[in-house]
Amino acid sequence: MDPVKKLRRSLKQQHADYIESRAQKDLAEVQALEPRVLDAYQFISKQSGSVSREPIFRAADLIAWLGRLQPKTIQELGSGRSSVVFAAWCAKNGAQHIAYEQRDYWRDIVEEAISIAGGLGTVVHVPMVRVGGIGAKFTKVLAAEIDLVYVDGPSGEDRTYHTHDGRCINMDVPEHLRAGHRPKAILIDGRQNTRDLLWGMPEAHEYELTKQFQRTPEFASATDYVRHSSMLLRAR
Ligand SMILES: C[S@@+](CC[C@H](N)C(=O)[O-])C[C@H]1O[C@@H](n2cnc3c(N)ncnc32)[C@H](O)[C@@H]1O
Repeated sequence: MDPVKKLRRSLKQQHADYIESRAQKDLAEVQALEPRVLDAYQFISKQSGSVSREPIFRAADLIAWLGRLQPKTIQELGSGRSSVVFAAWCAKNGAQHIAYEQRDYWRDIVEEAISIAGGLGTVVHVPMVRVGGIGAKFTKVLAAEIDLVYVDGPSGEDRTYHTHDGRCINMDVPEHLRAGHRPKAILIDGRQNTRDLLWGMPEAHEYELTKQFQRTPEFASATDYVRHSSMLLRAR
């Protein structure tokens, strides 16, 4: 066989093996936290008719973050499969979880999923409002003291926002920081426009900025294995 073809085939195989071994490791980590998380995921997929492309990999990443941060209070913005992981972790670690959710029917689905997983978490229906042409926020302010904020919503009601991807930027967290609050950690799921805004704020200097999520080609994202951007409050 042509040596270049042979090399390409071998690299492809190594890549496939790597993905497979990561997938097995991620699955084991989710099962170690709570095997019923997988039942809850199945329930969400069935209810929504959408099977997320990388749910286990994201769950494993969240579990790793939770282990590292050990939050006592978690505020989530936008609910879904991630809420199940947070709630399952809280049930085992004596922490509190609350999610704001703009869609009441979705809140019901997520709450049911949390109970399937034996989790301890609350999903509250909170309407959203648009903020200018680029953002949206929930109509309920965040609690003053939060250890971990997870930003994955609101999702906006359409794709008419003036951002690179047409998706809205979360405006709850910028407001929260401007009001002088300092969550110990802020995790941002994907949302590069939200990340860019937060990282550009003067308050970002009080945080360590790590692990940027970038929309990269399949191979690079498999080697980086990074989904969440993060802001960790520096020691004072
Ligand atoms: C990106 S999703 C949040 C997902 C969640 N944080 C997670 O990681 O699974 C943002 C919003 O989209 C909406 N959403 C997500 N999946 C949905 C579905 N299958 N059907 C209807 N709404 C959905 C919900 O309102 C949710 O708050």
